[in-house]
Amino acid sequence: MNERVELLDKALILAGVQPQVAQQLRDLQVKTSLDSTNSALRRLPLEEQHATVVLAEHQSAGRGRLGRQWHSPFASNLYLSLGWRFEQPLSELGCLPLVVALATADALQRAGLDGHRVKWPNDILLDGRKLCGCLVEMQGDAQGPYQVVLGVGVNVNMPHEEAAGVIDQPWTDLQSRLPGLSRNSLAAMLVDELFGHIQSFAGQGFAPFKERWKQMDALIGKTISTQDGHDQIEGIALGVDDDGALLLDIGDKVLKLHSGEVSLNKTKI
Ligand code: BTN
Repeated sequence: MNERVELLDKALILAGVQPQVAQQLRDLQVKTSLDSTNSALRRLPLEEQHATVVLAEHQSAGRGRLGRQWHSPFASNLYLSLGWRFEQPLSELGCLPLVVALATADALQRAGLDGHRVKWPNDILLDGRKLCGCLVEMQGDAQGPYQVVLGVGVNVNMPHEEAAGVIDQPWTDLQSRLPGLSRNSLAAMLVDELFGHIQSFAGQGFAPFKERWKQMDALIGKTISTQDGHDQIEGIALGVDDDGALLLDIGDKVLKLHSGEVSLNKTKI
């Protein structure tokens, strides 16, 4: 292993978190290896999940969206989950994945990155390649409260040879743009931004984030495709509405996508 590898360190992360966030943190756990930080958080008693952060150096069963696996080699990247209890009904939480993506994007900006973009609903791209993914898992009654686990994976220094055979989409990491970035510092910034963004969202909904999404949107004005059953739908992305739905101009009408996945149609950009 590289001698200069910096392991995650609870004390260093806590020292980097803003005091008002540190005060609200219930617990911050750093584990050597877990199946998945989202699963580990979910196994805690319900009353211990809110405002608890779980990080791991390695995940043996890291989960991505839509049943995918999240490649999680040891001491290379960030795998972080935060538990949160929302009093709102489910119908008001649809934008949460977008808010988590913006929190992650803003933490990366604080770390010195620029040029990264958010791709609906909650990927972060750098140079058109996937840099981070977010997995928001919710449980509760439709009318609320909702116990939510917000999971974020950031590719910091992915071992290339190993990843090449495992990750099935264009990806990148922070190594070439922010060499030597401390994962502990980045973890602290991510905790700060997640707390800040989620508290604004819980109080004010998506409205304060709409303009920021527009600035960071990787898709707006571009031709994109999505799968609808057996059919492929193509259209121009118009941005998101107040509920976080993606607006897709398909010529004769504008569709609202509430979930799913879209891909950029490179030949038409
Ligand atoms: C995606 O883009 O498909 C979402 C990836 C989310 C990965 C993170 S890593 C930390 C947390 N634990 C998991 O098992 N998944 C999320």
